[in-house]
Amino acid sequence: KRDFRERLDNEREQALLGGGQNRIDKQHEKGKLTARERITLLFDDETFREYDQLKGHRCSEFGMGETSHPGDGVITGHGYINGRKVFAFSQDFTVFGGSLSETNAQKILKVMDKAMKVGAPVIGLNDSGGARIQEGVDSLAGYADVFQQNVLASGVIPQLSVIMGPCAGGAVYSPAMTDFIFMVENSSYMFVTGPDVVKTVTNEEVTQEELGGAKTHTEISGVAHRSFRDDVSCIKAIRKLYDFLPLSNDPSTLPEKPATDPPDRPLPALEHLVPDDPNVPYDMTEVIKQVVDHGDLYEIMPNYAKNIVTGFARMEGRTVGVVANNPSTLAGCLDIDASTKAARFVRFLDAFNIPIVTFVDVPGFLPGTDQEYGGIIRHGAKLLFAYAEATVPKITVITRKAYGGAYDVMSSKHLRGDCNYSWPGGEVAVMGAKGAVEIIFRGKDVEKNTEEYTGRFANPLVAAQRGFVDDIINPEDTRKIICDDLAILQDKKLENPPRKHSNIPL
Ligand code: COA
Repeated sequence: KRDFRERLDNEREQALLGGGQNRIDKQHEKGKLTARERITLLFDDETFREYDQLKGHRCSEFGMGETSHPGDGVITGHGYINGRKVFAFSQDFTVFGGSLSETNAQKILKVMDKAMKVGAPVIGLNDSGGARIQEGVDSLAGYADVFQQNVLASGVIPQLSVIMGPCAGGAVYSPAMTDFIFMVENSSYMFVTGPDVVKTVTNEEVTQEELGGAKTHTEISGVAHRSFRDDVSCIKAIRKLYDFLPLSNDPSTLPEKPATDPPDRPLPALEHLVPDDPNVPYDMTEVIKQVVDHGDLYEIMPNYAKNIVTGFARMEGRTVGVVANNPSTLAGCLDIDASTKAARFVRFLDAFNIPIVTFVDVPGFLPGTDQEYGGIIRHGAKLLFAYAEATVPKITVITRKAYGGAYDVMSSKHLRGDCNYSWPGGEVAVMGAKGAVEIIFRGKDVEKNTEEYTGRFANPLVAAQRGFVDDIINPEDTRKIICDDLAILQDKKLENPPRKHSNIPL
């Protein structure tokens, strides 16, 4: 018996050491933490419980029979983040390059399956050389099993991915199907084919970082949602995001913090924040920060499609999702990137019962061949579809322009908006005065006609008279009114017609 104890201790010791001190040192030299150090940072102290620490691979090809590591290169288990349960897996690059084996996949599937049964999110810390080459199709089967589980878990539990090393080839598609992807600058990358293959096929010379680094994916491709300087700041940010999220699609799991910011706090700063001249930009995040609890806005994709802001915040301690046009970029126009960014966010919010607060200042869709050839019709439709399908509480505030089709799209009354408001400076119209007068009066009596059009449409009165906005509110009362509405709407019940699933334009 004592012999067995020693053997067990030895196995555990090996499991804790991963691929050995040399490889751990190499990992540190690259500025990366080890899989275990990341787990320690992610969870509340001493709360992590590991599963399958001793599980090994069963491959005997290419000399693999002689090399086995207890745990096989991925650490899995559950624990707590600020007292709320969570499941995680952390790929260990020091063991076979963190490559995904059949065993590896089984371990990941076990946590995903359990997380779904008990209703808690899964966080994947990715640092892997891809499919375990020695295992061939067994490893590919493992990937596909994980993909399938990602899809089944989508909309049931939040799934978060952190990319902290290589993530290439088929491996990218598991994170791609999760709800949020965070990346670490200069040490992580994601691509379908690496620089060498790119060079052979297209003759382009590109580095790993340029092709699939954190900057690329958070600014150009929109694949990832946030980027961070190093592992520590990235994991801290995941913990912060976690605090905003429900554990699952069961509404009773929505987090609630104590309401420490008075709901009726007036916002005098908002009276003058929006410039009188409709062509002068301002930063919509300033408006949002005034309105939400303690000015705490947690932006999702802050560096991509800046013409729309998406993020989490709290109102009276309860999580809300904020979507807002931002006139400081492209005058706040909706374009392809903004539409897809916001549509996916709205769908996340709706799937997880999080109310949506929308701020509108939109002069329309961005014109141009780039946009039309790129399919703005198809992509713009995503945002329209997502808002129209959403059954969560929807509150909308028009701060200035709400023009054309974009007015309809941005959580309008017509898309089952619960509470729609305009500030007195709102302009709800088909288009701005200049364009309108050119078209309907063909440039005649420009001054007089512009004045007439402006008087009639460059304000929210007609919309209020029709009931398309429920009221014209003072900017300074915005927080108070939204808090009140959210309390009233907390027990909102609305269901879409039964069907297998809708067919959102993709
Ligand atoms: N399968 C099995 N072992 C792998 C692996 C994989 N997919 N990827 C890496 N490893 C092993 C390496 O053999 C090496 O083992 P060793 O420490 O015993 O020598 C260890 O992981 C570290 O890899 P190394 O290549 O030294 O690290 P690196 O930082 O220089 O490069 C990669 C990292 C990911 C770029 C490189 O390992 C690579 O190209 N891997 C293959 C990627 C791939 O094509 N995967 C299959 C398609 S999905």
